[in-house]
Amino acid sequence: MDKLSINGGNTLHGEVAISGSKNASLPILCSSLLTSDSIALYNIPHLNDISTTLNLLNYLGVKHYWNKNDALILQSNQINCLEAPYELVKTMRASILVLGPLLSRFGEAHISLPGGCSIGQRPVDQHLKGLSALGADIRLEHGFVVARAKKLRGSSIRTDMMTVTGTENLMMAATLAKGQTILENAACEPEIVDLAELLNKMGASIKGYGTNRIIIDGVDQLHGAEHKVSPDRIEAGTFLCAVCATGGDIILHNVILSHMGSTVDKLIQAGLNIQFGDNWIKASMKSRPKAVGFRTSEYPGFATDMQAQLMALNTIAKGSALIVENIFENRYMHVQELQRLGANIEINGHSVVVHGVKNLSGAIVRATDLRASASLVIAGLIAKDETLIERIYHLDRGYDSMDIKLRNLGANIQRVTVDRE
Ligand code: EPU
Repeated sequence: MDKLSINGGNTLHGEVAISGSKNASLPILCSSLLTSDSIALYNIPHLNDISTTLNLLNYLGVKHYWNKNDALILQSNQINCLEAPYELVKTMRASILVLGPLLSRFGEAHISLPGGCSIGQRPVDQHLKGLSALGADIRLEHGFVVARAKKLRGSSIRTDMMTVTGTENLMMAATLAKGQTILENAACEPEIVDLAELLNKMGASIKGYGTNRIIIDGVDQLHGAEHKVSPDRIEAGTFLCAVCATGGDIILHNVILSHMGSTVDKLIQAGLNIQFGDNWIKASMKSRPKAVGFRTSEYPGFATDMQAQLMALNTIAKGSALIVENIFENRYMHVQELQRLGANIEINGHSVVVHGVKNLSGAIVRATDLRASASLVIAGLIAKDETLIERIYHLDRGYDSMDIKLRNLGANIQRVTVDRE
């Protein structure tokens, strides 16, 4: 299992190309199940959750290859299995995203129920409630969700909370349903807009995406299309947090600033200097950051996927910050690891108070989930002497070559490959 060794203290300088969005790519890959034609996707990031999704799609019978322009071509004209097994679903909860497309196009799907995960329980009851409203017969059998429907029928669905993959699953299912579906209380994240744009290119009729009310008029079939996935706003935000914490000046390429408003606002409050153009952001930091508190919420609020990284920044900021996590019930696993590096953090239920200290000092720490890993990388870039981060397979699930990109910016960061932990 690989580890990361970081010797902190270097400022970051140079340019970095941000990869395509992981969380936009995952549903987009699954949407290829909705047609027998081929789909060509550009800007898909090279990271492990993508490989896991491709393994799952391959298991179902989807063929794929990367062409010479680095486009991923997928074709679902020979689906021979309607089951997502436990082994694949347990490593990646987003595997639930094959449920809507399989059920809608083939009338049946068997998906292993994902268990709880380190950031919270993460049930899928809203996905199932929505599919039932579309006429599916849903049963839980031997740890599997078994869903059947000869033909889904459009309906009005109000989810109890805004759910990102829930909205994506229902939107995909409704594209081939008979009649109109209205999704109320829909999530409005840019990843949903990305998916809806591709589905419309494939012949779907979706309106209102990007708002809390999405209207889908079902069509008989979808066809092939080409699509370029949006930049990863969380990867971009992670690099901005890193430079705000270490100091230096960097230019991010392939970014959409409007997707990152809440993160950028907080970093400006922390003292980061920002200039931007059409698809680039220049960020520089010369002083110690100021503490910035925040509360996570659905888009366009402050993203839960940036909470851990901004907490890492606050550990060495001037002053104290109150952080409240409102989306997931257990997303503070990084706190005790940051404390091992010398951070002064108090947890009280859903809130955390970070009292900034002047310096962190390197130690052995353990990554517990994807964004927790990113926060430890940022803390390691700040800390004096060596920080050794174990279990970085979590980082590799969701970041495309983060260690290489940081090294190119001047960080002293090395991947250590060990046979056994
Ligand atoms: N929820 C339910 N029932 C459901 C669905 C959700 O109770 O049926 C709850 C969840 O437990 C959570 C809240 O609703 O408390 C919101 O969860 P949501 O469904 O929006 O999360 P998700 O779709 O499972 C996606 C991202 C996450 C990101 C969240 C929130 C993907 C593949 N994953 O998860 O990304 O944190 O939205 O923005 O899009 C990450 O990239 O590190 C990551 C965890």
